Amino acid sequence: MRFDILTLFPDFFKGPLSSSLLGKAIEKKIVEIYLHDIRECGVGKHKQVDDRPFGGGPGMVLKPDVLKQSLEKVTRSAKKKEAKKPHVVLLDPAGQPFNQQKAKDLAKKQWLILICGHYEGVDERFKELFVDSEVSIGDYILSGGETAALVVTETISRLVPGFLGKQESVISESFSKVKLGGKEVALLDYPAFTRPENFLNRRVPKVLLSGNHQQIEKWRLEKAIEKTRKRRPDLLREQITVSRKR
Ligand code: ADE
Repeated sequence: MRFDILTLFPDFFKGPLSSSLLGKAIEKKIVEIYLHDIRECGVGKHKQVDDRPFGGGPGMVLKPDVLKQSLEKVTRSAKKKEAKKPHVVLLDPAGQPFNQQKAKDLAKKQWLILICGHYEGVDERFKELFVDSEVSIGDYILSGGETAALVVTETISRLVPGFLGKQESVISESFSKVKLGGKEVALLDYPAFTRPENFLNRRVPKVLLSGNHQQIEKWRLEKAIEKTRKRRPDLLREQITVSRKR
């Protein structure tokens, strides 16, 4: 899977993209991630990328001509290699909420171009003409789309086969779906325990030491439901319409 990230701050990504599992996945070519500096397409001697909003008001708006140039530069240079059309995502607090389901949907795309918004936002005409989806990582305001782009990139990369050692780890983690009373719902993960068996006088639940895998599965499902009911009852009310075989 290929990601191209358009940003005014490419250095922001250098640490996270070179460490941990994401760094390994790039090294192993499971995912390809390219950074592009929007400013290279800035206008004039000062490489201007933004301007004051028409109608007045605070802040600066990213220029549509600059973003178009930057986007076209990426697609042009990638064209020879990529048979597919890219899916263009703008990170924006007013976008659709990003969650595990959205990550799964975007993971089917093969080629994503992520555009990090900044300042007062992005000219509306660029959004209308070039952006396929606007995505928000939560109801709060970051200084720019960079942190959000990183969250989206890592979450989707984890779903690419080969990223994790075992694909089962994706199947049995929080937000994976189960059928409950004819309804598909996302559950939080069940509690996990490891050695020592006795830690500060707290013992590992007996069933986990029993070796009875059917009993263990039943216990884990019960605990996942209990935890979800307590912490995120909204997940149990939400019916998931898009289903995937487990
Ligand atoms: N840019 C600023 N805040 C954001 C958010 N919450 N999600 C996505 N992009 C953003």
